[in-house]
Amino acid sequence: MTLGSQNPVYCALDTTALPEALAWARAIKPYVGGLKLGLEFFNANGPQGVRAVAEIGLPVFADLKLHDIPNTVAGGIRAVLPLGVSIVNVHASGGGAMMRAAADAAATAGANRPKVIGVTVLTSLDAADLYAIGISGAASDQVLRLAKLAHASGLDGVVCAAHEIQMLRKEFGPGFMLVVPGIRPAGAAVGDQKRVTTPKEGHALGADILVIGRPITESPDPAAAARAIRNELFPQAS
Ligand code: C5P
Repeated sequence: MTLGSQNPVYCALDTTALPEALAWARAIKPYVGGLKLGLEFFNANGPQGVRAVAEIGLPVFADLKLHDIPNTVAGGIRAVLPLGVSIVNVHASGGGAMMRAAADAAATAGANRPKVIGVTVLTSLDAADLYAIGISGAASDQVLRLAKLAHASGLDGVVCAAHEIQMLRKEFGPGFMLVVPGIRPAGAAVGDQKRVTTPKEGHALGADILVIGRPITESPDPAAAARAIRNELFPQAS
């Protein structure tokens, strides 16, 4: 399956409880294109947990956001390869050598290698937050700078906010994977995300993957929430 080609929605299963993650995954399986497992899940359930979720049969994005010296990140990527995940990520701010080491480590898996993508600027950060950590200028300038470095370092794509899609598509063309969190259906709680958009808008802008967590998992009926998003994206499927 081409990643995200059918249904671009990857649901973030942000929980420490494996049974809860499995229940969400089974319930939403018909309505999403993949599953994202992040630090909360991974730190509680480890590789076994990832394998258990992968057995559900959807592509898995291991959102580990690695950020360390190149040798350590390469080792971290190699350790993930046996899990058969489709995507893994690193922080682009770790630098070019680190991203190159990550890409090279993933390449050792040959045809089954996961895509390696770079986190540019977290969607929970705005310009004021960036200024506070020493980055002046617009968030989009920093996103473009880091995306160029990720591209030049051999990564398959980046994580960005929806309103950066057009800028990045123009710069890199269709082959560079754009993964977009901070997605909120109209009327959903924004939570800690600051740079948000709706699923439909993110899809129309050309995101390859839309990462959606709490609007699905905090719904009283996750399957219905995922179905509603799928129907918003693909009205003919409803
Ligand atoms: O619940 P919500 O839809 O906000 O979940 C978004 C998910 O995407 C979370 O798992 C978060 O860790 C992840 N993410 C993000 N911003 C990034 C990279 C990943 O929100 N830049």
